[in-house]
Formats: sequence, C-alpha cells, structure tokens
Amino acid sequence: MKHNVLIFLAITLVLVTSGCQNNADTSNAWVQVEQVEPSYRNLMPVPASLELQKGKFYLDDSFQIVIQGEPDKRLYAAIGRTVKRLSGRTGLFLPQVFFDRDDKPTAPQMIIEVKKPAEIQFGMDEAYQLDISEKRISLKAETDVGALRGLETFLQLLDADAQGYFLPALTINDSPRFPWRGLLIDACRHFMPVDVIKRNLDGMAAVKLNVLHWHLTEDQGFRVESKTHPKLHELGSDGFYYTHEQIKDVIAYAADRGIRVIPEFDLPGHATSWLVAYPELASAPGPYAIERKWGIMDPTFNPAIEETYIFLDAFLKEMTSLFTDDYVHIGGDENKGHHWDKNEKIQAFKQDMDFADNAALQNYFNQRLLSTLKSNGKKMIGWDEILHEDMPKDIVLQSWRGREAMITAAQRGYRSLLSNGYYIDLHQPTDYHYLNDPLPPDSPLNEREQTFILGGEATMWAEFVSPEIIDSRIWPRTAAIAERFWSASSVRDVDDMYRRLKITSFHLEELGLTHEKNYPMMLRRLTGNRDVSALKTLVDAIESVKTYNRNRQRTHFSYTPLTRVIDAARPDAEVARLFRNDVTDFLENGASDKTISASLIQRLQLWASNHEKLLVVIEVSPILHEIRPMSENLSAVAKLGLEAMMAIESGDKAGREWLKQSATIIEQAGKPVAQTELRILPAIEALVGFVE
Ligand code: ACM
Repeated sequence: MKHNVLIFLAITLVLVTSGCQNNADTSNAWVQVEQVEPSYRNLMPVPASLELQKGKFYLDDSFQIVIQGEPDKRLYAAIGRTVKRLSGRTGLFLPQVFFDRDDKPTAPQMIIEVKKPAEIQFGMDEAYQLDISEKRISLKAETDVGALRGLETFLQLLDADAQGYFLPALTINDSPRFPWRGLLIDACRHFMPVDVIKRNLDGMAAVKLNVLHWHLTEDQGFRVESKTHPKLHELGSDGFYYTHEQIKDVIAYAADRGIRVIPEFDLPGHATSWLVAYPELASAPGPYAIERKWGIMDPTFNPAIEETYIFLDAFLKEMTSLFTDDYVHIGGDENKGHHWDKNEKIQAFKQDMDFADNAALQNYFNQRLLSTLKSNGKKMIGWDEILHEDMPKDIVLQSWRGREAMITAAQRGYRSLLSNGYYIDLHQPTDYHYLNDPLPPDSPLNEREQTFILGGEATMWAEFVSPEIIDSRIWPRTAAIAERFWSASSVRDVDDMYRRLKITSFHLEELGLTHEKNYPMMLRRLTGNRDVSALKTLVDAIESVKTYNRNRQRTHFSYTPLTRVIDAARPDAEVARLFRNDVTDFLENGASDKTISASLIQRLQLWASNHEKLLVVIEVSPILHEIRPMSENLSAVAKLGLEAMMAIESGDKAGREWLKQSATIIEQAGKPVAQTELRILPAIEALVGFVE
C-alpha cells in the first residue's frame, strides 16, 4: 500500500497546487461561464408550454412598451418595476422606469394586451401568452394579474451574448396547475417589520405565488392593532404589531403583485397573548404573560361562556373589514384541551350540550366563529383539526399533520391545501419539498376529488428566524415549492431544479431579498471582523439539525439571539450537496474519473487543514467556542475521506485497525454540535464504506 499511496499523494499534490491555488473557496457561489444555459431553459416555474422559435430580440435604450385594453392601474406600476429591473441588469437607460399610462410611444416593441382587471380573490385568472420574435414582443392575458405573471417570465428570459442583451424568440402559453399557491409568514414568534413582508411579497410574485398567509396571533405575540380592543396589541405584543395603516399598505402592495393576503387569528389555542389582556375569557385562571418559550401551550379561550363569542364577534368584525380577502384563517391547531379538562364549568357545559369529546366542543366553538365570519361576508379556512362532519362544504382545510387529512377531506367533499411536506422552518432539503406533490400520479383521489385540492402553502414558522435570516430560510427553497404548485406534475427532475434554482436565487436578490448577502455579513460578525474564510469553509459544510430537534437539544426562548453559527448556516448547504453528488458519481463510475477525484481531493484537503486555521479565530471569538468540536470533526472526517480515496484509487484493502478508527471518528462526527450537523458526513461514510 505504501508505494501506491505515495504516488497517489504526489499526483494529488500536483493537482491541488497547480489547478486550485487561489481557490480556497469551495462554496461554488458562481455559475461558471461554461455552465450557463440559454435563459429559456432556466425558467422557474417551468411554463405549461414553451415553443422555441428562431431568432433573438435585442434590447437597447429605445425599448418601449405600450398597453392595450383595460387593466387595473397595478399593471402600470408593475411595468415600471419590470423596466427598472431590466435596466438594473442591463445598464440600459430606459425611460419607462417611470411608466406613464398615457404614454403612447410611436414605435413600441412590446405590446401588452389585457382584457380586464382581476379581482384579487381565490380563482383569479392568471394565464398569459408571451410571444417573442426578432422585432416584437407580445404579452396577452385575460386579466392584468395574468400579465404580471407574464412579466416575471419575460424578466427570467433576459439573456446576453457578445452582441448585447436579448430575449430568445419563442411562444409561451402558461397558466397555473393549482389556484392556491401560498407562503405562510409567522410574524408572531419573531416580529417581521413591514419591509420584510414587502420584500418577500416581491419574491413571491417573482416565482408566481399568489397567497400570503399572515400568521398574526400566537402565544408569543399579538401582532395586529385592534381599535375595538386596544389592550390586545398594547399588552400582548411588546410593542411589535402592525397598525391598520400598515396592514392596508401591505394588502395594497400584495394586490399590486397579484397576491392575496389571508390573515390568521389562531383560535382557540395558541392564545396566550390575547389572554394577557383578557384573562376572563381564558379556560384557566390568570394572570397571563406573553409566552417566551417555544412549544405547545395550554392557554385556551373558554368556549363555554357567551362573553368569549361577544368578544370574538366584535374583534373579527373589525378584522373582516380591515382584510379584503374572502377568506379568514381561524387556526384551530394543537388545542390539547388541558385547560378545558381542568375547568369544571367547561366540563358541565360539555355534558349539557351532549358533546362526546373536546373535538366536539371545539367544533361548537368553530361553528360560532363560522357564523360570525359568514355574517361579515367571509369564508373560513383552518388547520386540518377543524374538519368535522357538521362543517359546511365551503370551508377550506389546511393539511399540516399529514397528507391523509387532505385526502380524507377531499373524499368527504371538502376543499383543502397541502402544507405537510412544505414546512420550510424544519431545515429539510429543497428536493424533499420539491418532490412532495399534492396530487402525485398515484394519488388515491378520483378525478372529482382531485378538484378539491386547491394547492398548497410553504410555512415559515418563526421560532428560529429574525428579520436578518428569514429570507435565507424562505429562499431559494420556496421557489422550488412554487414550481411544484405552478408547473405540471411531470416537472420533477431534481438536478435540473437545483441548476435553475441557483439562477433564480440570484434573480431574487435584485428584489432586496437578503438570503445570499447576509451570509458573509453574519460570518464577519461571528469572527469579530477577522478573516472569515476558515469559518466559511466550516459553515458551508454544516446545517442546522432537522425538524424540531434544535429546541430539544437546547431550550430556546423568544429572546435567544439568532446570530450564532447555526443561524448563519443555511438549509440545504450547497457545498455539502455537491460533495455528496460528486462522491456518488465517483463511487458509481469507479475511480476512473480523474477530474472528479481531483476535485474531491481538493475539497477534502481544504477541510482537513481547516481546523488549524479556524482555531486561531475561534480562540479569540467566544461566540465560536461552541463550534470547536465541529471544526475538529470536519478536519478529522476529511482526513478519513482522503485516506479512503487513496485506498480506493490504489485498490488496497483496509486494515481492521483503520476500519475501527474510522467507525469511531464517524460516530463522533455524527453527533450534533451546537445544534448543527455535519452535512458532508454521509458522503464520507460512503467513501469509507467503499473501502473493503
Ligand atoms: C401548525 O404547525 N401547528 C399548524
């Protein structure tokens, strides 16, 4: 073995030192020039149909747009924004950044034809047709919202060659697969100021999402001003709430982008912050304080007293006039009924009313809310717990505990959305969400039942996000989920999704989203403004622990800082994913592919020597002390990976002692450190496992 290893090491050193001298950065942050595909291959979501034609439409300073038909004024503003993004990318001086509805250019190259304004409600028409030829661009849509969707596609089609910026000649006919394509933003666990909501609305519009589900009340915060019951926001919010003016502003901003805003008032559980102001409406005696911990809490409205309904009737009346969507979300999730069980009067009420269980009691509560909503002209949506045979068929259920709830609901004639599998707060990889189809080919639902599946929503629960990092949890993964809701179910090539996602992610940045740019900034802060390269090498290779394990491993509170290494680390770490893919390729193609093996070795060497460099920084950055064992693990497993590669390439058998040591190193590295996990580990294990 020794001789082979020496030759191998020599080759390795030559490869590493010659090709990759200045490339200490494994993050692969840039799309390599030779990897850039023509723009029509990069669309996300993929349109329903695309026919490529011959030719290119070149853009220059004379580019002008004209509108025909009767759109809402939102389209004029949208054209201004589109032109601004276009000029921002191209450097062209385009006067229609200030688009004027009375503008009648003599020789417009782009004609947008819209029949009528859309009403921003469920079921709005979002279809469009985009025709690009060498001399002309035509965008046609029944509604202005269709035109907005088409403008986003138009921007994604911008391409460049030596002659300049152009769009490829083609015809696109496009419309969504599902009518309800949402993102939930929890503004309660951590408050999200209006600008955070707005930049995410821009991101949503860019990938053709059409519902912002705004989670506004929780144990940890009551986030909406109430003029009828001001104690609610005064006592329940720590001062962090949206005023009516801000809410109206956000609704208008969303409507301008063809996005509905659905408020959620989570009832009867998840209610601590309401009960701070109104303990007399609770099921257990107060006083109550705003909750600082995470988890499922007991404070619950008392469903057995009329005062609860008088209060909620007035509150919901106020909210239904503030929010313009036909639907209001009443929550309904995770009411364990502990405080109901302990309250004798509630038990007596249950008996008097002949309710078999707490579910029946909660259904009674929901029915009372339903009649309030109906009398205010609204429809109800709630989490899957609200499904009950007494509920009318015009409610919508949001399935989160499993897809079975969605299937059962559809079989019983209820409409529903899928959120199970789209919990982006749980740090699962993009392909996991992407391949989660509300209606996969093997769906047990018949044709009629399938029409009851309205779409889905990604859920950005906010226990572990601040305004600084929320974008990096939403984006770019939510763009892949948006494609799942918009594009045909047959669009499911994971490699191609990742390729396009990277391009989409860069496009999303121009909207002010911070998912890419905050990462280096957070690393700088962690090192106290010292060199971040070694820290970046580590953080690129790790992720947060998954699902609900973060809080299990260390109790967090609403005041816990979200500035630690785990918070800088991003979901679905690209470096780790590419390493896993390359190891798989390497092992499948045998050791014959020298390019892959050289590149793997380069990465392994970088990691192997990283701890020594990072230690210098860790020692003077106390906030990094907790991550030291992870840094040691990274280097230890990288050395192991190098040894495994040497053995594989030389065809040597592993000694028993080496295998034993490897198992110990791998076991050690498999333990979470500071609630993070080493995402390159499975690939190292695969390499080691290959050595026999
Ligand atoms: C939920 O995640 N409790 C709806």
